[in-house]
Amino acid sequence: MTKAVCPGSFDPITLGHVDIFNRANAMFDEVTVVVTGNPEKPSGLFSVEERVELIRQVVPADIKVDWWAGLLVDYTTKHGVDTLVKGLRSSLDYEYELPMAQMNRRLSGVDTAFLLTDEKYGYISSSLCKQVAQYGGDVTGMFPDVVAAAVQEKYRAKGTYA
Ligand code: PNS
Repeated sequence: MTKAVCPGSFDPITLGHVDIFNRANAMFDEVTVVVTGNPEKPSGLFSVEERVELIRQVVPADIKVDWWAGLLVDYTTKHGVDTLVKGLRSSLDYEYELPMAQMNRRLSGVDTAFLLTDEKYGYISSSLCKQVAQYGGDVTGMFPDVVAAAVQEKYRAKGTYA
């Protein structure tokens, strides 16, 4: 049985992430999305629990969702994961991902497989889309609807939503 993990901060999940998870799900027997971060040390717009909950709402039921606060390779070793799967939008992503992939392989032997981001989502990142939402811009087609609503609600509650 082939097991893959899609790791990331996912603060919050975008439609680009959803596309990568679904494509990974067609390639591996079991796919788990792992939100990395420490629930005891909140950072970012959403708590780790909120990120997990939003992901659960927008991925198919056969994709598992989990979180992890330590080294990713400790998670993959503990759960017998063969492959990490990540999306690559551009050479900038490649430069960022290459040392992490090599470090993870050196530490534990786990391989990283990169899927090229669908061109529809090539310019989409959680941080850029959050910025658009923060100032009242239209994020249709960037976040799943339920996530877009949650982002808008966060900024409304903070009083920064235009
Ligand atoms: O959302 P990102 O920035 O793509 O996620 C990067 C992530 C979460 C994959 C990376 O920061 C990570 O693996 N964090 C867990 C801690 C860890 O294992 N660090 C060493 C990576 S070589």
